[in-house]
Amino acid sequence: MPLKIRGMNAGIDDIAIFIPKPYVHYMDFAAARGISPEKLEKGIGVKAMAIPDSDEDTATMAATACLRLMKKNNLSPKDIGRIEIATECGLDQSKALNSYTIGMLEQVYGKWALAHCGGRESKFACVSGSWALRDCWTEILAGENNGKASIVVMSDIAKYDIGSPGEYTQGAGAVALLVKESPRIISLDRGVASWVISDDYDFYRPHGHKTPVVNGKYSLDCYVEQVARAFAGFKRKALETRLVRTGLNFISAIDYFAFHLPFPKMGRKALERILAEEYVEEKMAFEAPLISYLRETHGDERAIKEILKLKNSEAVFRQKVEPSVLGCAHVGNIYTGSVFLSLASIIDNERLERKDIAGKRIVFLSYGSGSSAVVYSGVIGKGHADAAGKGILMPALENRNRISIEQYEALHKGEAKAPVAEKRGQFVLEGVDGNERRNYRFIEYG
Ligand code: HMG
Repeated sequence: MPLKIRGMNAGIDDIAIFIPKPYVHYMDFAAARGISPEKLEKGIGVKAMAIPDSDEDTATMAATACLRLMKKNNLSPKDIGRIEIATECGLDQSKALNSYTIGMLEQVYGKWALAHCGGRESKFACVSGSWALRDCWTEILAGENNGKASIVVMSDIAKYDIGSPGEYTQGAGAVALLVKESPRIISLDRGVASWVISDDYDFYRPHGHKTPVVNGKYSLDCYVEQVARAFAGFKRKALETRLVRTGLNFISAIDYFAFHLPFPKMGRKALERILAEEYVEEKMAFEAPLISYLRETHGDERAIKEILKLKNSEAVFRQKVEPSVLGCAHVGNIYTGSVFLSLASIIDNERLERKDIAGKRIVFLSYGSGSSAVVYSGVIGKGHADAAGKGILMPALENRNRISIEQYEALHKGEAKAPVAEKRGQFVLEGVDGNERRNYRFIEYG
């Protein structure tokens, strides 16, 4: 008996992104490290890495993204019931990033303005952003949100040892999602989310380490394995719930894939694995009747050819994945927020291409080292263009500062004497006192 799922729609109504202004250009990096620029541009897919300034941390990025989301939507603190934060770069073993964030926001909105906001810091490497979103979404579906919207913030700094292979996958940034009923950007599909978890040491950062221990090649294997497993579960549930009517050429029911992207090329690797599994499954189950089935359901030969072309991974990549890599290519890995950077990239990219994506289905493929994957989907709303305005990602990439390798290394080592970038309308770290208390300040728009 197929599951029948009905009810209200909820999901992402708007997105605000904060990216630190300093960045390292891949050509400068390649020259400094003696790496071929082609390896970075084509082998990895990276063009620039965002580097946090000396007065920025995960809390300033989270609070700034949150404030931008609230200002953009004219939200007052009473409209928000919960602020949920996902990060793998927490600032304290005990005190959650939420407290710092709320403290900063109350510098703008007034003391106690957000005292009613629930929420906590969640951690599971890069996948926890998806869990934080899911928690707020299910709270709304359960009617436990007191009629208020939630904000889910992902904030991270991907920092690797200087000279290590991970170094050219660095990045930093925060993404804030407004989660509510009848959302403009994307309504999440019910009953299809699928996840998988196992105990792995592909990438981890033991207490006290400033950078992770990375088993690079093994992490690639864990990623593709876990994502493919979670995708298989998603497919099973999508068929059971009749979200998708047939498993035959299942990929054609998906308009875009929003992968967690530690670097842009990862999307291609994961897609190839998913398509290979799909192909094997189809070959075993449907190869013989495929053509006659398509003739029956689609009639003309041109439509059949279009569908068969989708078996080709290059074509699928170009159509369904490439629009999502823009952000990662220009920012790098932002860990928890990466999968939503992919979503923002799809929206901005297709807007520039003048494509109407309302009604298109996006599948999110979220991965976190350690390791776990969550796969879920949603449908782009009619109001997405209105929410996006002149772009979601693009405004975050304006007026950036290309920094030298010397400036970058000084920031990396915590030896920069002064901030590199001029700032307006954002929070900054003023200092840390002898009791490890952090002092933040808002820089006016000016
Ligand atoms: P590496 O050893 O530099 O890679 O490490 P490589 O030598 O295999 O080269 C990479 C690609 O560049 C290859 O292509 C080469 O052929 C190509 P592929 O075979 O993969 O298709 N290449 C060239 N292409 C054009 N012109 C050239 C050229 N030379 C080489 N001249 C690695 C790569 C990703 C392993 C490394 O950067 C690393 O360790 N990164 C950090 C870990 C990571 O990002 N893992 C990804 C999966 S785990 C994950 O996503 C979770 C994470 O986000 C953390 C979390 O969950 O919290 C990291």
